[in-house]
Amino acid sequence: MVSLASGPLVLIGAGNMGGALLSGWLKRGVPGASIIVIDPRPSDPMTSLIAEAGATHLTEAPQDTIAGILFLAIKPQLMEAVLPPLKPLIGSQTVVVSIAAGKTLAGIESYLGQTAAIRAMPNTPAMVGRGVTGAYANEAVSEPQRALVETLLKVSGPVEWVATEADIDAVTALSGSGPAYVFYLVECMAEAGRKCGLPADLAMRLARETVAGAGELLHQSPDEASRLRKNVTSPGGTTAAALSVLMDDDGMQPLFDKAIAAAKKRAEELAV
Ligand SMILES: NC(=O)c1ccc[n+]([C@@H]2O[C@H](COP(=O)([O-])OP(=O)(O)OC[C@H]3O[C@@H](n4cnc5c(N)ncnc54)[C@H](OP(=O)(O)O)[C@@H]3O)[C@@H](O)[C@H]2O)c1
Repeated sequence: MVSLASGPLVLIGAGNMGGALLSGWLKRGVPGASIIVIDPRPSDPMTSLIAEAGATHLTEAPQDTIAGILFLAIKPQLMEAVLPPLKPLIGSQTVVVSIAAGKTLAGIESYLGQTAAIRAMPNTPAMVGRGVTGAYANEAVSEPQRALVETLLKVSGPVEWVATEADIDAVTALSGSGPAYVFYLVECMAEAGRKCGLPADLAMRLARETVAGAGELLHQSPDEASRLRKNVTSPGGTTAAALSVLMDDDGMQPLFDKAIAAAKKRAEELAV
């Protein structure tokens, strides 16, 4: 059971990410009665989940409540309009958690005032409970607040704390955007299989299951990725032939260096 002694958990935005977190919180024993969800138009399944859990649904911020945790899960472009009316929810015991890409804590505090605040970057596998989240806490966050927020973020997978807020841009570039790189890997493998003579749909099924299965093996195995790679690479065999191309000086590493650096640069440009 998660205790929210410092006040209610107020979730702003019950869309893809907010909804995934909310359902994880309820499954892990966060009492529905201590959750307030503010979203003008939650989906039907989300409306049912909120009602069944005994949580409160509001379309606007209440004026008579101080939040223990104010959890921001709205689109970044909505922050400017959504944050100012939330200021009455902030008290000395409140910690604000934002998962909005590119929105700095200074930017958030410019609307809500100085507060204990955490910036977190989850990724989309959170929707199946298999995400990973990078998080940064400002100096005002107490140890109990940090521990409580970590428990809440962990419902969608492991939480990795970073030392500076700027590190969140690198987290965004690596794990925040990372699922898209893996999906594209599936597309590239399928297309290469098609060019080797397989029907396109069969190549796609094989590529998809290979990446999903390799991901699951990586998840379940205690071995490093490099060990798992070596385990399937016989000297002089087929895997070694492919890896000699992928691991060449102009292979995958320089490509990933460039891609992730480009994502980080874009995250820095978008940060406001
Ligand atoms: N998806 C990702 O991969 C990912 C990864 C890391 C971080 N994030 C961050 O997570 C945040 C949410 O992303 P998402 O994909 O979950 O977006 P989303 O599905 O659009 O969810 C946002 C929710 O907020 C609702 N909303 C709109 N106006 C509101 C208001 N005034 N007050 C309260 N709620 C309001 C939206 O309702 P309507 O649909 O009716 O507008 C929607 O239900 C974003 O800031 C994003 O940067 C996302």
